[in-house]
Amino acid sequence: MAEDRKSTNITWHEAEITRADRERLNGHKSCVIWFTGLSGSGKSTLAHAVENALFEAGCRTYVLDGDNIRHGLNRNLGFSPEDREENIRRIGEVANLFAQAGVIALTAFISPYRADRDKARALAGDAFFEIYVKCDLDICEQRDPKGLYKKARAGEIKEFTGISAPYDPPLHPELTVDTGVETLEESTQNVLAVLRTGGIIP
Ligand code: ADX
Repeated sequence: MAEDRKSTNITWHEAEITRADRERLNGHKSCVIWFTGLSGSGKSTLAHAVENALFEAGCRTYVLDGDNIRHGLNRNLGFSPEDREENIRRIGEVANLFAQAGVIALTAFISPYRADRDKARALAGDAFFEIYVKCDLDICEQRDPKGLYKKARAGEIKEFTGISAPYDPPLHPELTVDTGVETLEESTQNVLAVLRTGGIIP
């Protein structure tokens, strides 16, 4: 039992339609594809490129993206270590619900703490693919698609990942893509290859 659980008198209700039933209906397995990396590394771009390819192949998919989720479900969270932990805890749960529903869930969050990513992995079991979207900080900073590195350097944003807040690189990701070196197409194909090897798609 989760030690932070506050509700009592709750009982688990077993579903009648199982994940395996849904996977059979969909014609593919479901899973969580967890993209992690610095802001500006290309997580969202790659997640959407992989989703496009999967969708074209007839797969059920959904992308959960940090900036978008922070407009709604997680709008009450900031960027302190505690809030980032809660952000990732919720996304780990939501991504796992999508996977239970038979969907290939793709998440694009910095998810800077290894311990938090490992919890998300533990929740999803075998069906978890951690993709380290590696990119040198200076390249992310040159790209600066949202102008946030500039603000962080000017001291206008506190606790900015890579500048004034830490990032723990994955130790054993299922795949590392280096977006400073590979093309988007190459990275996309490498992710699809991992899914094929993992038995998610034919
Ligand atoms: S996480 O660290 O909690 O996983 P998440 O992926 O949800 O972060 O959100 C990161 C996005 O929020 C960045 O891409 C950037 O657009 C924006 N952002 C705003 N403030 C910060 C900050 N202090 N550190 C990192 N990203 C920030």
